[in-house]
Amino acid sequence: MRSHYCGQLNETLVDQTVTLCGWVHRRRDHGGVIFLDLRDRDGIAQVVVDPDTAEAFANADRARSEFVLRISGRVRLRPEGTQNPKMPTGMIEVLAKDVEVLNTAVTPPFQLDEHGKVGEEVRLKHRYIDLRRPEMIEKLRLRSRISHHVRAFLEGQGFLDIETPVLTRATPEGARDYLVPSRTHPGSFFALPQSPQLFKQLLMVAGFDRYYQIAKCFRDEDLRADRQPEFTQIDIEASFVEEEDIMGVTETMIRELFQDVLDVELAPFPRMTWAEAMDRYGSDKPDLRIPLMLVDVDDLMKQVDFQVFSGPANAADGRVAALKVPGGASMSRKVIDDYTKFVGIYGAKGLAWIKVNERAKGLEGLQSPIVKFMENVIEELLDRIGAEDGDIVFFGADKARIVNEALGALRVKLGEDLNLYTRDWAPLWVVDFPMFEADDSGRLSPLHHPFTSPSCSPEALKANPAEALSRAYDMVLNGTELGGGSIRIHDPQMQSTVFDILGIGEEEAREKFGFLLDALQFGAPPHGGLAFGLDRLVMLMADARTIREVIAFPKTQSAACLMTDAPGEVGAEQLKDLHIRLRQKPKPESGE
Ligand code: AMO
Ligand code: AMP
Repeated sequence: MRSHYCGQLNETLVDQTVTLCGWVHRRRDHGGVIFLDLRDRDGIAQVVVDPDTAEAFANADRARSEFVLRISGRVRLRPEGTQNPKMPTGMIEVLAKDVEVLNTAVTPPFQLDEHGKVGEEVRLKHRYIDLRRPEMIEKLRLRSRISHHVRAFLEGQGFLDIETPVLTRATPEGARDYLVPSRTHPGSFFALPQSPQLFKQLLMVAGFDRYYQIAKCFRDEDLRADRQPEFTQIDIEASFVEEEDIMGVTETMIRELFQDVLDVELAPFPRMTWAEAMDRYGSDKPDLRIPLMLVDVDDLMKQVDFQVFSGPANAADGRVAALKVPGGASMSRKVIDDYTKFVGIYGAKGLAWIKVNERAKGLEGLQSPIVKFMENVIEELLDRIGAEDGDIVFFGADKARIVNEALGALRVKLGEDLNLYTRDWAPLWVVDFPMFEADDSGRLSPLHHPFTSPSCSPEALKANPAEALSRAYDMVLNGTELGGGSIRIHDPQMQSTVFDILGIGEEEAREKFGFLLDALQFGAPPHGGLAFGLDRLVMLMADARTIREVIAFPKTQSAACLMTDAPGEVGAEQLKDLHIRLRQKPKPESGE
């Protein structure tokens, strides 16, 4: 129906006849001449309709916002003074000969260029209109380029694209499962995969050697800006590999992707151990664009006459850490109070601070609610932190977990609020994760998933599970975990040991993962892999605020689709087929 996309028109087409199809972006009546901005996915072209062409003019006259038109006409240069060099098609316009209304449109719920005036809910409810916005088209176009690039790269490296089931058994990745009731097996349920983890391992046992898939994953967990219940992974697995192989190929993939798609050259990624990341940044996904760092002051605080600090400093699981903000001494009381509230979200009971007004003046030159308790260590403290005139130093004291979370988040917030970023892109690998983390009752759970190989023998693991490290690695970009993976367990003995430590008994292990334990006995090669969050990767590359902005049809924070109104109720008949009785009576089927 068309000869060109609107956005393709330029001066080289002057005097040619073109046919465009698209939506009315704007319509202006200029004393007898009608101007239509016609929009399609490639851009916007200005169309001029003259009363001389009577039928075209009549059609243009009844066209309204978002009507669908087909227009034929001649490309000509815009008159001097009306050119718009900021617009790709701004030097030319189309003088219409024919204007055909292909479809009308009712008044849209919002004007595309006024989307900011309506809430995100309205945009999500009418997502097909929101997606007409050039910014949204740009983001999804970028997403398409990224997945195309990833596929081409991995195919080039000999990875095979293999699909794995969506109706399956639970794959433990730390979230709740979405369940699907089985009609043919009363009382039984499929689980939607939290990741293709087990299947990709089985593909390695099968001998495929190199696998990838751009796979949908489903996790019923608390949602945040970078989490969706249904999201997409670039999932990768390979056999006869070690950490270096997987990290090498995936780092090359990301660096080439940035080079080709964004024209950004990333230097080789630095590596940091998990312990160092927690210690210095209070986070296992440090944002290295921000130059602030946590400093341990436990040893100095053991003796001070301030129980809030000496308590955690002397406790095995406690931590006292300082965070210096250069030039921060000018912060007002109100700002400090706001940051105190902010760290409260993470469980911190307060946020002590010292303003360094003039160090040369000793205690006189400091302003703080706490220095009076630590006069004997203050000089050493300030030296350790490297405090200079004009700085403010914040302190956290509590269980190490709380201090890390609170000061880690404060560090990121200060970076944002004070715009402390030193560069645009800060990728890194985090390595040497612990195998397990303990909850407050001492119960161990896997830090990654339970198929991750420890870096020690089964005996050493059994002897001291809490201290064991794993062969896992995460790729972090600008404070976001882009991807994570590990070398897997390929020995059934080791797999059983890990299940055992996790309190998964033999019977339960057989019931849930019998197929994996069996497969490991039939010649499983050493193998490992990694999965990237594609939505997160696109979000960062598109400089979007949330992953919702780079997903065509995302769910809300409460895991619903406002457009289709999913999840929805189902009728009594359907429930009966599925052998399900609700606690609340279902609504009768319509028509019954
Ligand atoms: P993991 O659970 O770390 O590992 O997930 C891998 C990557 O997927 C992305 N991701 C998400 N993105 C959006 N919304 C979510 N709810 C969400 N959850 C995770 C993140 C994360 O880094 N099977 C293992 C990988 C492996 O070991 O190979 C796994 O799924 O970017
Ligand atoms: P208080 O003696 O309770 O008035 O506290 C003195 C200062 O210590 C205040 O600035 C509090 O915000 C701060 N504070 C209290 N508890 C903690 C804590 N657990 N970690 C860091 N600072 C704290």
